[in-house]
Amino acid sequence: MRLGLLRESDPSENRVALVADDVASLIQRDDSNATTVLVESGAGASASIADNAYRDAGATLAERDEVLTADVIVSVTDLPNGTVLRSSSGVPAIFVGVFDPLWAPQRAQRHAADGVCAFSLDLVPRITRAQSMDVLSAMGTIAGYESVLLAASRLPQMFPLMMTATGTLAPARVLVLGAGVAGLQAIATARRLGAVVEAYDVRPAALEQIRSMGARAVELDLSEVTGDAAASEDSGGYARAQTDDTAQRQQQLLTPYVAASDVVITTAAVPGRASPLLMTEAMVQEMATGSVVVDLAAERGGNCELSQPNTEIIHNGVTVLAPTDLVSRCARHSSQMFSRALTAFLGHLVPDGGTGLRSDLHEDEILSAMLVTQGGDVVHQGVAAALQPTQDTAAQTAQEVQG
Ligand code: NAI
Repeated sequence: MRLGLLRESDPSENRVALVADDVASLIQRDDSNATTVLVESGAGASASIADNAYRDAGATLAERDEVLTADVIVSVTDLPNGTVLRSSSGVPAIFVGVFDPLWAPQRAQRHAADGVCAFSLDLVPRITRAQSMDVLSAMGTIAGYESVLLAASRLPQMFPLMMTATGTLAPARVLVLGAGVAGLQAIATARRLGAVVEAYDVRPAALEQIRSMGARAVELDLSEVTGDAAASEDSGGYARAQTDDTAQRQQQLLTPYVAASDVVITTAAVPGRASPLLMTEAMVQEMATGSVVVDLAAERGGNCELSQPNTEIIHNGVTVLAPTDLVSRCARHSSQMFSRALTAFLGHLVPDGGTGLRSDLHEDEILSAMLVTQGGDVVHQGVAAALQPTQDTAAQTAQEVQG
C-alpha cells in the first residue's frame, strides 16, 4: 500500500490526519515492507509536528503532486475542488477523510464523478467494534472541553465558589443543552472549574449520563406534544428531529433555565439535519447582561437563533459565540485522537500488514457504513437519498439509514 498524507488546504485547519507515531506503527505492522507513506511537506506544522518527525518515523517527504499518486490518500477534511487523485498502481484511488456527505451530498457526487473510492469517517457506526475509529466522539470530546474554556474566558466572573476576606463569590451557573459526547465533556469541564451545572437532552437515556457527570438533569414534560418519550431516539441511539410543536414547547420550558444561567453551551445535533433551534432571540433576551452563549452547532445553522459562525454577537449585553474551529485550536491533541481513529480504520480497511484492501467493502458492517462512492457511483444509500430532490424525504431516509 502506498499511503499519502496531505497537508490540509484550509488555512484555518491546524490538524493533521496522521501523527508521526501512527505513521511509524502503520509502517512497522507490515512485515513484508509493502507499506510506503508519502507525507506532504509541512503537513504537521500547524499541529506542532515537524517534517523530521515523519522522516524519523519512516515516511518519505514529498510535494503534493507526488503524494496524490498514492493508492490511499488521507486528510482531515475534504479534498479541495479540482484535486485529481492519480493512483500510480492503476487501481482506483481511495480517499479517507471527513466530508459530512449526509449534510453536503454534493461532495459525494464530486468524488463519484472523479472515480474515487471515498470513505467518510464521520459515518462511523456507533457500535462497540468501531469505537476505536470513532472520530466523532474524539472530536466531540475536544469541542466540549474547549467550549467551556472559551466561555470561562469571556464570562466577567470566575467559575468556582470563592469565600474570601473580601466577600463570597457565587459559582457560575452553566447550562448544557444536548448531552452527547461534546455535551458530557462540557459538563465535566465546567464541573472541574467549579461551576454549578445543569444539562438537558431530548434522549431519555442521556439524563442518567448527565447525572453520572455530577450535573443536574433538566427534565421537560413534552408528553402533550410528543406522546411517547422514547420516540425522541432512533434505533441507532441518535436523537430524532423534533416537530415544530415539540420544538416550541421545548423552547418555552427551557426559558427559565436559560434565564437563570450565566453560561449556556449548546451542542444539539441530529444526523443529516439542520441543528435544532433550542434558543430563540427572546430567550437570550432573558439572560443577564454579561452572560455567555457558546453554540457548537453553528456549522448546521446553530442551536441559537442569534448564532453566526465565527462571529461574536453581543445582544442585550449577552455574548453569543458560534466557533467552528474549536477542535482545530487544540491541534496537537485533536490530531493525535483523529490519527489514532484513522489508523484503526486503515488497519480495518487494509488488514494483513498492508498487503491488500479488503474485498468485503459492502458486507462489512463498519466499511459499508462509511463507504460513500465507488466505481463512479454514490453507493451509500443515505447519501444517495439525500441527493434526491425532495429534501424532507431524503433527509428522513438518510436518518433512517444512519440509524
Ligand atoms: P450528536 O452530536 O449527534 O448530538 C448531540 C446531542 O444533541 C445528542 O445527545 C442528542 O440527543 C442531542 N439532541 C438532538 N436534538 C436535541 C434537541 N432537540 N434537544 C436537546 N438535545 C438534542 O450526538 P453524539 O455525541 O454524536 O452522540 C450520539 C449518540 O451516539 C448518543 O446516543 C451517544 O450516546 C452515542 N454514542 C455511542 C458510542 C458507542 O460507541 N456506542 C460512542 C459515542 C456516542
